[in-house]
Amino acid sequence: MKPLKITSNFEVFESLEALPEAIQELMKNAFEARDKAYAPYSQFNVGAAIALDNNETITGSNQENASYPSGLCAERTAIYYAGAKYPDARVKDIAISVRSVKHRVETPVPPCGACRQALVEYEVKQNEAIAVYFMGETGQVMKANSIKDLLPLVFDKDSL
Ligand code: THU
Repeated sequence: MKPLKITSNFEVFESLEALPEAIQELMKNAFEARDKAYAPYSQFNVGAAIALDNNETITGSNQENASYPSGLCAERTAIYYAGAKYPDARVKDIAISVRSVKHRVETPVPPCGACRQALVEYEVKQNEAIAVYFMGETGQVMKANSIKDLLPLVFDKDSL
């Protein structure tokens, strides 16, 4: 037996204002997307905004369905739209914000496992890390420099 230790790195910012202006703008796009979420079942709204290297910003929000598993998270709505609309563009950053109708979310909420898997596909495809910024409705913002910090031991094309 040989132990294997895997380390992930994150940065914690006390508020959105502590981040560069371009990221503040990207997060504001995520806020706007979040407020357009269709989440009548969970009442948990999520918005994602993706900055591409062609200077386009793609946004998405969670889209729920009466048949619950047919719904889709905000991050996947956004990344698949980005991939569909600009297949040759590189993804630079993704900003994510959540808001619950039931309680005030003041701590950063990271993307779910399925979204991490969807996002890492694009990081591997472009061979360049994607920075992830995530937060609640207000408060601290967390940053990962790569999807792989959120998803160590990645399953990707090399696993096939
Ligand atoms: N949700 C997202 O949009 N992104 C995540 O990373 C986690 C969960 C959505 C799915 C569902 O509409 C609601 O949040 C509650 O799980």
